[in-house]
Amino acid sequence: MTVRVLTGITTTGTPHLGNYAGAIRPAIAASRAPGVESFFFLADYHALIKADDPQRVARSRLEIAATWLACGLDPDKVVFYRQSDIVEIPQLTWLLICVAGKGLLNRAHAYKAAVDRNTAAGEDPDAGVNAGLYMYPVLMAADILAFGAHKVPVGRDQIQHIEMARDIGQRFNHLYGQAWRQATGQSGEPLVLPEVQIDENVATLPGLDGRKMSKSYDNTIPLFAPPAELKRLVMSIVTDSRAPGEPKDTEGSALFQLYQAFSTAGQAAEMRHAFADGIGWGDAKQRLFAQVDEAVAPMRENYAQLIARPAQLEEILQEGARKAREVTVPLLDGLQRAVGLGSFQAASGDEAAPRAKKPAARLPQFKQYREADGRFHFKLVDADGQLLLQGDGSASPREAGERIARLRREGASALHALEQGAVGLMGERVGTLGAGLAGVDVVIEALRQLSEAEAG
Ligand code: TRP
Repeated sequence: MTVRVLTGITTTGTPHLGNYAGAIRPAIAASRAPGVESFFFLADYHALIKADDPQRVARSRLEIAATWLACGLDPDKVVFYRQSDIVEIPQLTWLLICVAGKGLLNRAHAYKAAVDRNTAAGEDPDAGVNAGLYMYPVLMAADILAFGAHKVPVGRDQIQHIEMARDIGQRFNHLYGQAWRQATGQSGEPLVLPEVQIDENVATLPGLDGRKMSKSYDNTIPLFAPPAELKRLVMSIVTDSRAPGEPKDTEGSALFQLYQAFSTAGQAAEMRHAFADGIGWGDAKQRLFAQVDEAVAPMRENYAQLIARPAQLEEILQEGARKAREVTVPLLDGLQRAVGLGSFQAASGDEAAPRAKKPAARLPQFKQYREADGRFHFKLVDADGQLLLQGDGSASPREAGERIARLRREGASALHALEQGAVGLMGERVGTLGAGLAGVDVVIEALRQLSEAEAG
């Protein structure tokens, strides 16, 4: 079985060396492993929670899209998309908001931190807190649950959110699982509960001042800074005051940690020796600059080309969204029906009425659903859920409903085989035979059973 791995990148700010070593590089490497199916997305709806400058949001999502591709993400191998292109995510968000406990959200770290700050300042606890910050964990749960993701690689600060996604998903399954199985004819649970994945080996890089490199500490080195700026920033990394010739500690040295993140084990060992031998800080910084620049230069060039062609980026992301929606459209269709928001047609003639009359009848069933292509499909399955007839898609649910009605009325007497597994009704093609069926007779028999049950 392939493992589905999914992660999102909030589109605020400009990617820096810490993002690269801590998230981008390991995620791209992991996406190349066999047996995984990776979904990476720009969490641009999340960006609105903290940012209210449209130009910065727009700029950041462009930069981050170009960065991931420049660093070697292969959009043919990975599904790479923007959250805001997947309309099923906000749809699912609402379904989940309506099952998530408000108390659960009260306990979310990001919201609690805001409340604590307000309380400490003697303000109203909710001062300046928008409902987006409050609902953040539900949006994130929808990001994950809309794709049936098994593993979600994130930093430690996100563990609580994955736990909440599990909680909310479990609650949805508990409340609607049965209805979903009935509506879709599928077994199992509607939502897959994700697992958090924390990579212990991944470096957390220090920034210019030695604390964790982070936009909020204003101590970052932008990943694609031009060489002169990269050099200037590297030269400004804090060190102790030991003079050239004095042995230096690698332990706790930001400079050494940065060097290590961009070098082989052999190069790092050499640098360790140089530290012990008393390399001057100026020389060590010069080496660090050369090392980072060498690693970054080819990607920086890719980046410059990509960022200059937004139309090409747009196309890549649109294609990613198309692939992503192959997953989310059918899932949301089933979930909507499970909560009672399906089409009236499915509820009236075809499924609900016979169920109300004779709950125990073991009969073949027609099922209607919507596919990623946006078209309306139906199928006939036997009492065990085995596919008998796969109907052709229609542009509207009404058309699909009419097809089903005709099959019910006339199928038992007028259904016939066409070429290559296709099945017709009075010469007009209606669908294809289920795989492995010997012939059209099985379908005719099922339709006969259905009309008999209806008459009796
Ligand atoms: N909130 C995450 C962060 O700040 C980004 C994110 C949004 C995410 N949706 C997600 C991560 C879904 C993993 C899965 O890092």
